[in-house]
Amino acid sequence: MSETHNVRFEPVGIDIDVHEDETVLDAAFRQGVMLMHGCKEGQCSACKSFLIDGDVQMARYSTFALADYESDAGYVLLCRAHAYSDLEVELINFDEETIRSGLPVVTVATTVQAIQPLSEDITQLVLKLVEPGDLRFYPGQYVDIHLPGSELHRSFSMAAPQTADGRLEFIIRRYPGGQFSALLEGDLATGDKLDVTGPYGTFTLKASSERRLVFAAGGAGMAPVLALLRQLADSGSERDVTFYYGARTESGLISLGELQQLRRRLPQLTFVPCLSESWPPGWDRATTGYVHDVVAAHEDGLASCDVYLCGPPPMIDAALALLESRGVPQEQIHYDKFTVTAPSDNG
Ligand SMILES: Cc1cc2nc3c(=O)[nH]c(=O)nc-3n(C[C@H](O)[C@H](O)[C@H](O)COP(=O)(O)OP(=O)(O)OC[C@H]3O[C@@H](n4cnc5c(N)ncnc54)[C@H](O)[C@@H]3O)c2cc1C
Ligand code: FES
Repeated sequence: MSETHNVRFEPVGIDIDVHEDETVLDAAFRQGVMLMHGCKEGQCSACKSFLIDGDVQMARYSTFALADYESDAGYVLLCRAHAYSDLEVELINFDEETIRSGLPVVTVATTVQAIQPLSEDITQLVLKLVEPGDLRFYPGQYVDIHLPGSELHRSFSMAAPQTADGRLEFIIRRYPGGQFSALLEGDLATGDKLDVTGPYGTFTLKASSERRLVFAAGGAGMAPVLALLRQLADSGSERDVTFYYGARTESGLISLGELQQLRRRLPQLTFVPCLSESWPPGWDRATTGYVHDVVAAHEDGLASCDVYLCGPPPMIDAALALLESRGVPQEQIHYDKFTVTAPSDNG
């Protein structure tokens, strides 16, 4: 049996136990401590932290997430780090409100309730919780859906807050040959069983802030933003909100009916659809181009906003560079990078 060690996180002063056969990040989830993370598999760098003291061994990860010079300097990825002594770890990217709000991570049996194409490559999937019939999560969080008959899983964000009738709604981009998403093209049917594990994620609204909200998303990045907009509408929030949504062509603009309904309940919501590849005659040219370029052209006060970004890694990286150049404080930036599950390249 593996040994157990103590991990102390600074500067928040939180202690957890970690077994040698689990990662530090999984140990934190087990104990309701919601550390910053994204892919949970060494691809995105969201969990990068500094090892002040102690011995860790790292499972395989991408050197895009942790460069060799960072590893040499003492940085580690908590989603890949196994403790072999007591550890002292300095979190470099954290939000104390989020860390202390962790919900227990559980595995739940579900059945497929609906599969509905939304565009040529995006599909809505609705699951019904079976056992247990309840999964607590915050809007903006995601679960891992287990691939039937396999050890593999894929991460997908809920597109709506928790419902009383135990429905989980997802918006999923289909990739040709995608091990999970391609199943939505006919292999999965209503009534099929799927296990999900969660909730994960830190892409949640910070209750303590009253700042104006700017959302920017591309493709299936619509999912968690829709969940957050629905939460704002449900709570009667009066915060000013602008949502920039990017697609290549007009047919990629999904969930428009839903957004229109939301605007009735959230009149202060401004929705700015952005098209990068082609647009119909009469389309406002100020909203053509990549979503971060449209945000750059429209927004001159980003530093006083809370900014939420969600979508493919190149979109997030470009938007983060913009936010840095505009002086947006780190604690006002929240993002979910929709990384691909890919082989790791170190070790
Ligand atoms: C925190 C988090 C939340 C996520 N939420 C969502 C969500 O709500 N909706 C959603 O659609 N996705 C989401 N993703 C991304 C999703 O988990 C991946 O895209 C996943 O790899 C797709 O699984 P798959 O089995 O269909 O494809 P895989 O079998 O994993 O991939 C097959 C091939 O498809 C291509 N591919 C797959 N994913 C991508 C991608 N994202 N970008 C470019 N090429 C890709 C690649 O060529 C890849 O080699 C999320 C990811 C993370 C980390
Ligand atoms: S969560 Fe650790 S690298 Fe993505």
